[in-house]
Amino acid sequence: MRDAVSFLLNGEKRSLRGLSPTTTLLDYLRESEGLCGTKEGCAEGDCGACTVAVGELRDGRVRHLPLNACIQFLPMLEGKSVVTVEKLAGPGRSLHPCQEALVETHGSQCGFCTPGFVMSLYSAYRNETRLDRQGVNDLLAGNLCRCTRNGPNITAAETNHDYQTPAWEAAELAAEKAGLQTLQHDETLALETAGQRCFAPASIENLATIYQRYPDAVLVSGATDVGLWVTKQHRHLETLIHLGRVRELNRVIETDGVLTLGAAVTYSDAFGVLDHHFPEFAELLRPHGDTQVRSAATLGGNLANGSPIGDSPPALIALGAFVVLRAGPHQRRLPLEDFFIDYGRQDRKAGEFVEALEIPLSTPPERLRCYKLSKRFDQDITAVLGCFNIAVDDGQVAAARIVFGGMAATPKRAAAVEAALVGQAWSEASIEAALPRFDADFAPISDMRASADYRLRVAKNLLRKYFHESHAPLAETRLVGRGATISAVAS
Ligand SMILES: Cc1cc2nc3c(=O)[nH]c(=O)nc-3n(C[C@H](O)[C@H](O)[C@H](O)COP(=O)(O)OP(=O)(O)OC[C@H]3O[C@@H](n4cnc5c(N)ncnc54)[C@H](O)[C@@H]3O)c2cc1C
Ligand code: FES
Ligand code: FES
Repeated sequence: MRDAVSFLLNGEKRSLRGLSPTTTLLDYLRESEGLCGTKEGCAEGDCGACTVAVGELRDGRVRHLPLNACIQFLPMLEGKSVVTVEKLAGPGRSLHPCQEALVETHGSQCGFCTPGFVMSLYSAYRNETRLDRQGVNDLLAGNLCRCTRNGPNITAAETNHDYQTPAWEAAELAAEKAGLQTLQHDETLALETAGQRCFAPASIENLATIYQRYPDAVLVSGATDVGLWVTKQHRHLETLIHLGRVRELNRVIETDGVLTLGAAVTYSDAFGVLDHHFPEFAELLRPHGDTQVRSAATLGGNLANGSPIGDSPPALIALGAFVVLRAGPHQRRLPLEDFFIDYGRQDRKAGEFVEALEIPLSTPPERLRCYKLSKRFDQDITAVLGCFNIAVDDGQVAAARIVFGGMAATPKRAAAVEAALVGQAWSEASIEAALPRFDADFAPISDMRASADYRLRVAKNLLRKYFHESHAPLAETRLVGRGATISAVAS
């Protein structure tokens, strides 16, 4: 066991003891290190002013992720490298290419957001990511600039791949990689300070044992929900168990027609494989928060959080996914729809955690359709999310999985609508006949996002939309995304 959090900060090793495990990286940088270039705007992962680049070793290379320092707890940095804006300038305080690009495009006025933009650009530059316009929009969606309204920053990002690595930086990068290699280990991190303790195991066996011993502990994966409990609700978390280092929870495995995603796989890491099998699902996840949030947030956290407006559960239920749970040495597997019992209640026993998600690959990619309704495209919470997976055989509905978020206390199948459709001709008449069954399935609430009446009406219209998209492949029914051309739903 190790009792100090060790990471690189701007190339120098830090080993920290005695700090609260819920100290955020942002507070540590500003208050303990005096690195005030990293700003606090919202303290809830929305504005990007606190963006830093976090490097980690992946397949022998260093990968840099842009992360919101305001919702990263210090123990989550074990074995990683943090780069802040202070590190970027070269000899004689010459500007880094990512800084120069913003100067040239007049991307900085009051300057409050600028370090965050620079660090987002830096992460993409470091990873040698070539960005098209869509990629630039995705990269910067989580960095808000009130002064310039983002235009100049977007122009700066569009030239991102043209930057040359300065000679002085190449040596620093080699040193960063060597430093990271010395920090890797398989021991459990076990921290104890006045009134708080935190564990960060590296294996699933150790995780299971620790959680059995401390079943009241708060599990922390990407902290894009838990972080806000601390920064916004000021909750005191006595015992935490961080899941990010657990090897087995970070695996993506594809065998025998099933895609298995470990619970700690982030949205960024899941995106490629989901896009390959279910482009529509990936498209749904693309605006999940922003790049900084998707680099930290996990699918396992989204399920375990159990929000009725979480975006991944409806799509996963529509695909017939299973959740794998583990308590000590015991594993159990249940259909994801049975995991959600009631508002804030999931079928999870004391000391039991989400180990993985299993997604059958039997659904043809074009058959899954996901429609998220929110007031903005980027960074907005769902009002209604409808996911449809309807199999049509010889003109008749053979099977239907229709799942909604935002319509009930849990993500929920429209069981009565499904029953009304199965066995019927796949026709407008059948759709119209099934629509009243929505009133049996759902009694949504009115809240600030939408009224009950709107929710019900839109749910019915989404079924109509799915039908029309399946029948008129070239009908342009969407403004954003790749849904403009759609192939037939029939399997
Ligand atoms: C700016 C911003 C934008 C967001 N946008 C969206 C959005 O568009 N759509 C959306 O659905 N969500 C959104 N979220 C919420 C959040 O990103 C998701 O719920 C995310 O998937 C949570 O994952 P995490 O790894 O960060 O979970 P954490 O915050 O680490 O944990 C969340 C909960 O799950 C528990 N938990 C985590 N892992 C496990 C496990 N393996 N087993 C058991 N329990 C576990 C934790 O104890 C906690 O209760 C947003 C959040 C932010 C800050
Ligand atoms: S301070 Fe706004 S995202 Fe961190
Ligand atoms: S330059 Fe002022 S907020 Fe962006």
